[in-house]
Amino acid sequence: PLVAVVLAGGVGSRLYPASRRHRPKQLLALGGEGTLLERTVARADFADEVVVSTRPAFADAVREAVPEASVLVEPAGKDTGPALAYATHRIAERFDDPVVLALPSDHHVEGEFEPTAQRGARVAARTGSLVTFGVDPDRPDTGYGYVEPGPDRGAYAEVAAFHEKPDAETARRYVEAGYYWNAGIFAWTPAAFREAAGAADAPLSPLIDALDRGDPEAGFAAVDPVSVDYAVFERATDVAVVPLDIAWDDLGSWDALRRILPADGDGTVVAGDASVRAVDATNNVVAGDDVHVSLVGVDDLAVVAYDDRILVVPTAAAQRVRELVAELDAEG
Ligand code: GDD
Ligand code: MG
Repeated sequence: PLVAVVLAGGVGSRLYPASRRHRPKQLLALGGEGTLLERTVARADFADEVVVSTRPAFADAVREAVPEASVLVEPAGKDTGPALAYATHRIAERFDDPVVLALPSDHHVEGEFEPTAQRGARVAARTGSLVTFGVDPDRPDTGYGYVEPGPDRGAYAEVAAFHEKPDAETARRYVEAGYYWNAGIFAWTPAAFREAAGAADAPLSPLIDALDRGDPEAGFAAVDPVSVDYAVFERATDVAVVPLDIAWDDLGSWDALRRILPADGDGTVVAGDASVRAVDATNNVVAGDDVHVSLVGVDDLAVVAYDDRILVVPTAAAQRVRELVAELDAEG
């Protein structure tokens, strides 16, 4: 059977102050109907079972957002590496010969996802490779992982190397060289995941040993936060990439809204139920909840107002909101 794991345990800090610790990105209704999480669960409905994976802090909010889904709560939020090791372990216990299809819940996707997903799942079952889905890049985005393709095998290409979140100069080189973006969507059999993730020197190996002993709590206590990209894909030797040929966007930062929402004559893009008056102001992104924003003589800014918080950032620096949130978090 095909078991979809929808990952819903991240915060999405670059979308502050819309995303906050009590209201993570996947629970926002950005750029469409319903929350990103609801839309992801609906997109996975062709799977034999859909499991939503989240951390304890978001468990109640996730259950409320998708009451029909089965929710798997990991003992502690330690990023996607531990979350997927845990989900894969539980699925291997419950199903015969499952293929795991891992889906982030913070994406905006348009078009038919099922055919490509099924193709990836078949490649995972047939080859025993870890499968990632690749998107053709149209800019040197530093918020994505890059997949360096190797020999073409028809339905997929072998992966020569996987490079998580490069700097801008390196990203430019990767785009020129024809690498894919990692869509963050994966397929694997439990055996393939285990072989790649459980090697003695791999970051997830203490967790995998503890899961084998039936002690997930101890395993999560023993493991450092690490994403599946670093913990598994950058290290794995047997990885395949299946091209994802639908419109896809991580909606990672405020400038991303410009790519999916229509702009008015001044290039202003409005999200949420904010309204805007712009005088001699162009190419700004405005987002907020029930707020009126006035812009005079400013260009290329994101102006965001949620709750009692306001953020102003040049759209070109929108990735740096991550630094701000890290500082706010450190202050508590
Ligand atoms: N269950 C669980 N637990 N889910 C988590 C956790 C956790 O601790 N941390 C993050 N997630 C969820 C997020 O909610 C999101 O749906 C998904 O896992 C991916 O995490 P992100 O934090 O959004 O990752 P990213 O966007 O920075 O990078 C990943 O996705 C990119 C594409 O969007 C990487 O896979 C990149 O290589 C990739 O290009
Ligand atoms: Mg993301």
